[in-house]
Amino acid sequence: MDNLIEVSNITYQYHKGRKVFEDFSVQFDCRESTVITGKNGSGKTTLTKLIMGILKPQSGNIFIFGKNTKDLSLGQTGEMIGYVLQYPERQIFAASVMEELTFPLLFKGEKKEDILLKAEELIQIFELEKVRESYPFFLSYGEKRRLAIASVLMNNPRYLVLDEPTASLDKDRIRALSQVLNKLKGKNIGTLMITHDKNFIEAHGERIIQLEGGQIIKDEK
Ligand SMILES: Nc1ncnc2c1ncn2[C@@H]1O[C@H](COP(=O)(O)OP(=O)(O)OP(=O)(O)O)[C@@H](O)[C@H]1O
Ligand SMILES: [Mg+2]
Repeated sequence: MDNLIEVSNITYQYHKGRKVFEDFSVQFDCRESTVITGKNGSGKTTLTKLIMGILKPQSGNIFIFGKNTKDLSLGQTGEMIGYVLQYPERQIFAASVMEELTFPLLFKGEKKEDILLKAEELIQIFELEKVRESYPFFLSYGEKRRLAIASVLMNNPRYLVLDEPTASLDKDRIRALSQVLNKLKGKNIGTLMITHDKNFIEAHGERIIQLEGGQIIKDEK
């Protein structure tokens, strides 16, 4: 129970939109790498937003690490699960790359030396050295994506949810991301990843789920 995400009989309909999920259930093991595929509009992003508590189901419950998301703030969920949005510019706020990486932990009062060390390490891994002091707004798409992933990892999440993380990354950067995910896996930090990238599915899909019209039409290990 403690290592699970349990989506239990949820119904979700966007305001004035169509019903995306009806009586939908699924469980994820947070030590495992799960890939979600499916056509555009099949509900992949909506599912991840429901898990993160950004959207609330009209009925049913979602439990992360044994806690009902109804009882958790977005901040509390975000401490446990790192979430990288499909459009990374929507999660970048600071005035520089370095600040984006460090300010949440500085704000929380963690030790500055430790924060800077960790930020440096992620800057190296995601090859952001050249843009360290740049205004994130002007970064390229690939740089924004890498920054968004690095920021989320600053928090030491227990699980990682990534919505199309390879979009706009070149081959070398995809390989680097792949290595990071393997390293996390080695620390028992699993991922829930939406992707259409065949190589990525092969490398990281311990379990592969295919969604269509808000239903699971394939679930394979
Ligand atoms: N904010 C919204 N308001 C109304 N309807 C929405 C909203 N966001 C998504 N939808 C609808 O919900 C359905 C599921 O969308 P979702 O974004 O979850 O799909 P997806 O599988 O992530 O697609 P893609 O592969 O294009 O990213 C679609 O029919 C979409 O039009
Ligand atoms: Mg999507």
